[in-house]
Amino acid sequence: MKESFSYTKIPEDSRIGITCNSLQGERREEDAEYDEPETIRAIERAIERKGLETIRIEADLDCFQRLREERPDFVFNIAEGVGRGARESQVPFMLEMLGIPYMGSDPLTLAIALDKARTKEILSYYGIPTPRFQVLWNVDDGIDSALDYPLFVKPLLEGSSIGITEKSLVNDGRQLREVSKELIERLKEPVIVEEFLEGREFTVAMLGNEPRVLPIIELDFSSLPEEKRFDCFEVKWYLDDDKLVCPARIDEGLKRRIERTAIKTFRALRCRDLCRIDMRLDADGIPNVIEANPLPGLAPDPKENSRFPKACYTAGMSYDEIIWAVLDAAVRRYEGSSHIQSP
Ligand SMILES: Nc1ncnc2c1ncn2[C@@H]1O[C@H](COP(=O)(O)OP(=O)(O)OP(=O)(O)O)[C@@H](O)[C@H]1O
Ligand SMILES: [Mg+2]
Repeated sequence: MKESFSYTKIPEDSRIGITCNSLQGERREEDAEYDEPETIRAIERAIERKGLETIRIEADLDCFQRLREERPDFVFNIAEGVGRGARESQVPFMLEMLGIPYMGSDPLTLAIALDKARTKEILSYYGIPTPRFQVLWNVDDGIDSALDYPLFVKPLLEGSSIGITEKSLVNDGRQLREVSKELIERLKEPVIVEEFLEGREFTVAMLGNEPRVLPIIELDFSSLPEEKRFDCFEVKWYLDDDKLVCPARIDEGLKRRIERTAIKTFRALRCRDLCRIDMRLDADGIPNVIEANPLPGLAPDPKENSRFPKACYTAGMSYDEIIWAVLDAAVRRYEGSSHIQSP
């Protein structure tokens, strides 16, 4: 694998922009997805170790102007953007307008992936298993009687488990009303209600545009009470190193099935260069896709258990190699030596 990180195609005097939203002070719900300074520094160092210059550009209201003035030759984008909805698309849109090449998915894919219902509509078109669902736009919207309880309620447009708590798993209409009302009123956005997948949970990191599937991670909830076996604010403390099992202990058949579903999802959503896909098994043991993260967290410290780097470390890569591999995939794509494939 190392040979393919040749990364020689970026001229030596190139300036690589790092577009990011850096976390200022304590983390709050609004900036739950912003990056720690250590992550941004680690990316800069990895790129600088290749002899390239870096320039950091904060993805705030001055971002467009700075990109326009600085005109980096290539951008490594980890920006979450500001506000809600399609926020992760903001920086890629600016880069498209300015004609600056960048790594990662395009604005359309990033916007779709942030909307869990739109994502699932596309997956359904391609026959990729995903739980049945409904979007509740208002607190008094009627509930689809075709959905089978238990159901799972979460915000339509968030990530990082924002709005997901122990109460997200609901057993009847009364609980569903209560939880969705609280979320819609507090976050001022719709909720998605999905059938609950009772089986094991996996997250799958992918690199490149073939793409390459990295060792699968299992989120092992087995020592929690049954009604708490999902990733939410209250169980974050629980999901430390030994509960994120990588490579997952699964048989060859299931491994192949998960990998196939991950690759199909990557292609159906037209992801580029990297992505992390969350899945769970349904009652029949079939992997169902919960969501796709085309802009996965890249915290370098193994103690942080950031899932994308964790899968790469298990594959024997160093942090620098992760960053180089992502850049390499993006550069090859622009050169036309790697092609996006249809699902
Ligand atoms: N339909 C479902 N059935 C069972 N569990 C679910 C379902 N949907 C979500 N979950 C649980 O809730 C967790 C968070 O859901 P999801 O991945 O959709 O939200 P997120 O906030 O975007 O996550 P991330 O932290 O990966 O950004 C999942 O990892 C899973 O444990
Ligand atoms: Mg998730």
